[in-house]
Amino acid sequence: MVYDLIVLGGGPAGYHGAALAGRKGLRTLLIEERALGGVCLHNGCIPSKTWLQSAKLFAHVQNGAVYGVKADGLHFDQQVVTARKNKVVRILSAGVKTKLQNANVEVVTAKGEIQGKDEDGFRIKAGADNYKGKNLLLATGSVPVIPPIPGLKEGLAAGTVKTNAEIFDLNHLPASLVVIGGGVIGLEMAAYFSAAGSKVTVIELLDRIGGEIDREIAGILYDNYRKKGVDFKLNTRVTAVDGSRVQFTSPTGDGAVEAELVLLSAGRRPLLSGFGLETLQPHMEQGRLVVDRAGRTSVPGLYAAGDVNGRSMLAHTAYREAEVCIDRILGGTEEVNYEAIPAVIYTDPEVASVGETAESAARKGLAVQTVKVSMRYSGRYVAEHEGGDGICKLVVNRGDRRLLGVHLIAEYASELIYGAGLMIDRELRIDEIEKIVFPHPTVSEIIKEAALQYGSI
Ligand code: NAI
Repeated sequence: MVYDLIVLGGGPAGYHGAALAGRKGLRTLLIEERALGGVCLHNGCIPSKTWLQSAKLFAHVQNGAVYGVKADGLHFDQQVVTARKNKVVRILSAGVKTKLQNANVEVVTAKGEIQGKDEDGFRIKAGADNYKGKNLLLATGSVPVIPPIPGLKEGLAAGTVKTNAEIFDLNHLPASLVVIGGGVIGLEMAAYFSAAGSKVTVIELLDRIGGEIDREIAGILYDNYRKKGVDFKLNTRVTAVDGSRVQFTSPTGDGAVEAELVLLSAGRRPLLSGFGLETLQPHMEQGRLVVDRAGRTSVPGLYAAGDVNGRSMLAHTAYREAEVCIDRILGGTEEVNYEAIPAVIYTDPEVASVGETAESAARKGLAVQTVKVSMRYSGRYVAEHEGGDGICKLVVNRGDRRLLGVHLIAEYASELIYGAGLMIDRELRIDEIEKIVFPHPTVSEIIKEAALQYGSI
C-alpha cells in the first residue's frame, strides 16, 4: 500500500499538515518518535506561556497596591506552577491526538528513517516496518545550538546548564540564573525567573536584546527589565563555563558570574541529519535545506515545513507552511507570505511585531516613514496600566502609503498583532486603515490612532 503522504515529525508543522491532509481525503501517515506536539507543546510555546501566566499574576498582585489591591504573605510555589504546566500539556496533547484521529491520520510512534525514493514513492522505515508514500513532508523541527564554549557540554551533562528541553521540569526556583543569549527564549525566561524571584543575569553577544525587533522597542524592554532587577551584559562573549560559573569577556574587561543555574538559549538549528535525508540528496545551501515559498525542495514530492527549513522558526509559520505544502500536493498554487508573519516575545509587557522595521526597510532600500504613538493614547491602556510606558510604531511605504510594519510593546500586543498582519497581507494603505472601526475602549485602537497621526503628517 502506498500512502498519498507520509509526514516525518509530529510538531506543529507535522500534526497540522497531517490533519489537514487527512481531512482533504489524502491517505496520510504521521511518524513521530516522541510525544505528539513537538517542542512547541512540550518544551516551548505552551510550557513557557503557562509558567509566564503564574509569574505575571504574581508580579501584578505584588504591585497591586496602586490599584487598591493589597495582599500580604504572597509567595510563589514553583512546584504548583510546574504541575499546572504538566496538566496543560496533557490537555493539549490529548487535543492533538483527537485532531489526528478525526482526520483519519494513521500515527506510528517510532523513529522514521528515509531509505530512498523509487518510481512509486518515498521508502521510509519506522521501527520494524517499512512504509511507502507518494509525497513526503519533512517536519523534523530544530535543536538548540550548542556553541563550542569550553565546559558547556559538561555543564549540560551535569545538569548545571539547561536548555529549553530541560528547564520546564524545574520544581524549585533557583536563587540565581545566568541566561546565555538575550533572544526570544532568553528574554521570556529572564522575564519568568526575575518575576518569580530569581536573580537573573543575561549575557548577549550583540549590542541589543531581542534580535531583529525594532531597536527602540528593544531599548524600552531593556530599561523595563533592568528596573525590575535583571542584569544585562551586552556585547559580551561567554568564554568558558565551569559548573554554573560563567566566564565572559566584555567591553569593560573579563569577568565571571556564578549562579545556581545556567540557561543556554543561543539559538536553534534545523534538524537535518540522523534520519536518512542524504539518501534523497535535496539541494542544500550553506548547510540549509532550500525550499521555496510553497515548501518544495529540489526533490519532486519532498516538502519541508516548520523549523526544519530554517526560514522563520515560529510555530505559526510552521502551521501556514504545512497548509501551503498540502495545497501544493493537491495541485494548488498557494505560497507563504513571509512578509506578514507576526512575532511575539511574551515578556511583561509583551513585544509584538509584523513586517518591516525601519532598519530592515533601509537594508532593502525601501523608502519608508514611521510614526510612533504612546500607549497613553489608548483609553483602556491608561485605565488598566498605571505608569504603562508602551509604544506602537507603524512603518509606512512613503510612495503609496501602504502599511509595511507594525511594532508594539504593550500588554495584549500578542492578541492584536494578527490584525496588523492582516492589514499588511492585504496591502492596506493608511487611508484605508483610518476607516476601520475598532471597538472602544480596547488596546487595539492604538493602531487606528497611529494611522490617524500618520495621516495628519
Ligand atoms: P534567538 O535566535 O532568538 O536568540 C539567540 C541569542 O543568543 C541571539 O541574540 C544571539 O546573539 C545570542 N547568542 C548566540 N550565541 C551566544 C553566545 N555564545 N553568548 C551570548 N549570546 C549568544 O534564539 P533562542 O532565544 O534560543 O530561540 C530559538 C528559536 O525559538 C528562535 O527562532 C525563536 O524565534 C523561537 N522561539 C519563539 C518564541 C516565541 O515566538 N514567542 C518563544 C521562544 C522561542
